[in-house]
Order: sequence, then structure tokens, then C-alpha cells
Amino acid sequence: PVYEATCTAPVNIAVVKYWGKRDTSLILPTNSSLSVTLSQDHLRSLTSARCITSGGADARDRLWLNGEEEEIKQGGRTERCLSEMRKMRKEFEASNSSLPRIADFPIHIASENNFPTAAGLASSASGLSALIATLSTLYALTPENGVSVSDLSRIARQGSGSACRSMFGGYVAWEMGLKDDGSDSVAVEVAPVEHWPDLHALILVVSDKKKGTPSTAGMQRTVATSALLQHRIKEVVPARMQRITTAIQKRDFDAFAEETMADSNQFHAVCLDTFPPIFYMNDVSRAVIQLVTELNRASVEKGEGVKAAYTYDAGPNAVLYVQEKDVKQVLELVLRYFPQTTESFPDPFNLGAKPASDVPQGFNKAVIPEHEVGAVARIIHTKVGDGPRVLAKE
Ligand code: DP6
Repeated sequence: PVYEATCTAPVNIAVVKYWGKRDTSLILPTNSSLSVTLSQDHLRSLTSARCITSGGADARDRLWLNGEEEEIKQGGRTERCLSEMRKMRKEFEASNSSLPRIADFPIHIASENNFPTAAGLASSASGLSALIATLSTLYALTPENGVSVSDLSRIARQGSGSACRSMFGGYVAWEMGLKDDGSDSVAVEVAPVEHWPDLHALILVVSDKKKGTPSTAGMQRTVATSALLQHRIKEVVPARMQRITTAIQKRDFDAFAEETMADSNQFHAVCLDTFPPIFYMNDVSRAVIQLVTELNRASVEKGEGVKAAYTYDAGPNAVLYVQEKDVKQVLELVLRYFPQTTESFPDPFNLGAKPASDVPQGFNKAVIPEHEVGAVARIIHTKVGDGPRVLAKE
């Protein structure tokens, strides 16, 4: 028999950022975080795994990423995920005599992203969550068999912290947990995609070069040196998690946007408070913040409420969260300021957005600095989406 499974898993972009570990081996965070899962129709990792049942004595676990074989390092994150999933399968086999004994077979895994790794998007979240979704399908470690998605998220977390949040669709919290063994540090669904389906995301790819301080190293430098991080962890994030959860439950975009932008700002502030300091945003990133701030100010003045929320991860690229009713207007304003993006912008929503010929009423052009032409390499337009999908199982 053939034992094989294929799954896809989504990207997620945090609105309350994870930054700092209290245990670097188990990947336990210093604060809870919350993210929006983005649609796999546009961005996804696809992973297949197969048990090698007929291999010779030299058969072993092997991994291919985007077509290139990668070493599975002893004691590394991938190995840890594999061994945790095997352990669970073994327990399942021990409790159910009719199951085939497949836990000890070597596994071959092939994974690919449908977006360039250089797009500046974290591929670890979708990649590691696709790995866990695929192994859970292969091993039948599913909710029907008593393994919850949060149980699986506990293992995905050990592959990459943010990966645990990609195990769910919609709006997802990673509860930091208090236990030393990490058993309560899991992802939970705050609301499914159907609860608030019209939230769009515009990813402004300011730079597609992979550079700067990797998040894994950067966050531990922050833990070691930033006093502001301690304030953030204790005084800011717990209350913000509550407020943004309420905002999502009420579909209150203004409150959601306020918390999202404040949290991005504070994340980048703790990076500056790190020694040596970490700079992720550049001049273009800051110009986008000024554009969004002025758009929001002008529209609130007109009584229309907030139009967009910006957030930045460990790089210069902006992610704008926008409600469906406003997305064309926001996109056209972005295209007005970064007109070189039109050609490289195949909008999957077919909005037919063109650079705005004028700014919205009340918008003060003087607050936006002269932009550099060519500054935004491209825009990816997507929206909130569902969790990992099973494509095939044999
Ligand atoms: C800025 O999950 O990539 O995107 O756990 O070391 O793999 P590791 O780090 P990772 O960090 C993500 C940091 C962030 C914020 C976030 O996604 O919450």
C-alpha cells in the first residue's frame, strides 16, 4: 500500500506581534499574539509526504524545498516536528490494533511555495504549518481521532513560532501559555473567516531582497537588551489582546485598525530599543505610514471612519488591512503615489484600479514626502482566508 498525503497551508500576518522567546528550544513566546490568516487562493505552501515502505537499510527521512534537497539537521526544527508527529502516531497505533504500523517508516517530504521566498514574506509560517497539516493527514491524527487543531499547533509552534497560527483560518490567537513544558502554548481560533470575510490585505513589496536581521536572532537580542520589551510584555500586550479580540468579534474596523497600527509601531520601537538597534523599516515604509495616516485623518474628519491599517513585520514591506468597501479607493491612492506598480499588478479581484487622478477631499498632500519612483516593487492583493486544506490522501 501507498501512504501519502498532500496539503496546503496559508500565510498569516500578525496584528499583535510575537517578538521574544522565553524558551528558545521549545519556542515559547514572551507574549501572546494575534494574526489574520490570508487566502491560499493567492499565497500558500504546498507539501507532500510519503512513507517509504520498501526502502533498503539506507532509507532515511529526506526533504526537498522548492525542488532543492535540504539536509534535515539532527536536533533541528524539522526533525523535532517529525519526531513529535511520529510519537503521536505511535501512541495512536498502540491504542488501536487495526491501524497499519507506519510510524517508523522513513518519510520523504517535498514542499514548495507559490510565492518567491524573496518576496519578503515569511515563508516559515506557511511552510511549517503545511508540514504539520500533511503529516497529520498522513498519520490520521485528526479531530475525528481525538487530535485537535490546537494540539497540532503545539507541534507547528516548534517548527516556527508564527507557524502555529497558520493552522487555523480567519482570526487566530497564539496564547503564550504559562507552563514550562509548552503544553498550554497553542493557537486558538478567535473567529472563523466567515465571521468577518470582507477584510482585504494589500502587501506592498517595498523590497524583495532577503537582508537584515533574521527574526529568530533579532528577537533574542531584544529579550536580552530592551527594557521597553518588558513594559510591552507586561503592560501593553495583555490588554491589547483583549481589545483587538473584542474588535474582531464586533467587526469594529476602526478599533481593529487602531490596535494593529499601535502594535506595529511598538514592535518597531522595541527593535530600536534593542542594542545594537535593529532597523526593519526604511524611508518608503515610513512614507506608506504617512500616506495611511493622512488618508485616515481626512476620512475620519468627513465622518467616514478609518480606511486602512498598516503593519510591518521583520522587513520593510507594508501590509495594509482594508475593508472590502474601501479597497479600491485605498489601492488607487497607493497606485497614485507608487505609479510604477500598475504594470506588475495582476489584481485577482479584477477591480480595474487605476492610479487616483486626485487625492481624496481634505487630504493634505504636503504631509507625504516625495516618493522614489520604483520604490514599491509590486503589490499583492489578497484577503482573509481559511486554514490548511487537504488536497490528497492515499
Ligand atoms: C515579526 O515565527 O519567524 O513576523 O519562532 O524564531 O521561527 P521563529 O520566528 P518567526 O517570527 C515572526 C516574527 C514576526 C511577528 C509575528 O509573526 O508575530
